[in-house]
Amino acid sequence: MNRLKNKFALITGGTAGIGFETAKQFLQEGATLAITGRSSKGLHLAKKKFGNDVFLIKSNAGVIEDQKALAKQLVDIFPKLDILYINAGDVTHKPLEKWDENSFDQVMNTNLKGPFFLIQSLLPLLSESASIILCGSVSAQIGLPQSSVYAASKAGLISLARTLSGELKGRGIRVNTLSPGPTHTDAFKKFGLDQEQEEALVEEVKNIIPLKRMGSTLEIAKAAVFMASDESTYMLGSELLIDGGVGNV
Ligand SMILES: NC(=O)c1ccc[n+]([C@@H]2O[C@H](COP(=O)([O-])OP(=O)(O)OC[C@H]3O[C@@H](n4cnc5c(N)ncnc54)[C@H](OP(=O)(O)O)[C@@H]3O)[C@@H](O)[C@H]2O)c1
Repeated sequence: MNRLKNKFALITGGTAGIGFETAKQFLQEGATLAITGRSSKGLHLAKKKFGNDVFLIKSNAGVIEDQKALAKQLVDIFPKLDILYINAGDVTHKPLEKWDENSFDQVMNTNLKGPFFLIQSLLPLLSESASIILCGSVSAQIGLPQSSVYAASKAGLISLARTLSGELKGRGIRVNTLSPGPTHTDAFKKFGLDQEQEEALVEEVKNIIPLKRMGSTLEIAKAAVFMASDESTYMLGSELLIDGGVGNV
């Protein structure tokens, strides 16, 4: 239960879904933890569940200024940062003809540009053996209809894990991607699809899972604990798929 003892951790988007379950697991393993959320409602619910066990910070992953402000806030509460789990993501899915420049930019800002500048802003605080975990998606490996911009943003993160590992390895900092497959959260309700499109997509997704079931947030969170801990010190610039076989089988 002490796999993250003496480690300071930040999870973006930790108020619900995968981030929330990961926050619970990180706490159980002894980490000192801060989480971000975008909505006051989400942060309020997290406060009810975590009480004073977690630092709660309001920050929008898609706004560059928020990333700099977040880094400044962390400097005030943490002496160092050992674990950075960039989990917040915009999951908008829609057919090619429905995308416009604004919706394209919003997904890219939240999933790729914001994370890039958050890592840059946190560079002075990151410890010598820090583990940075980027939340990818198996969607980057397959051709799921309606996922074009989302999957491209996640492919960008997988690339960042490699290039930034190359750049930061001299400081002992590891950057890796944790890519979930379809997982039970409220994310499917946020795709921006009408009901008919959502049902069609859910059916399509179910059909492509070799294990014939969605994953649980706990299955993803356990992998995040491994990647955050010193058990994964030989993992660098890599991707861990926890996806019921979607990407490989
Ligand atoms: N669920 C899946 O099937 C699946 C599969 C592959 C990959 N993923 C990835 O896993 C990650 C988490 O997804 P999830 O399914 O757990 O989603 P979720 O249940 O919808 O939870 C998302 C969390 O992120 C926060 N968030 C969303 N946008 C944000 C923003 N712009 N700034 C700050 N916080 C933000 C939300 O807080 P607010 O409510 O305050 O916005 C919430 O805490 C995402 O990166 C997603 O792409 C999910």
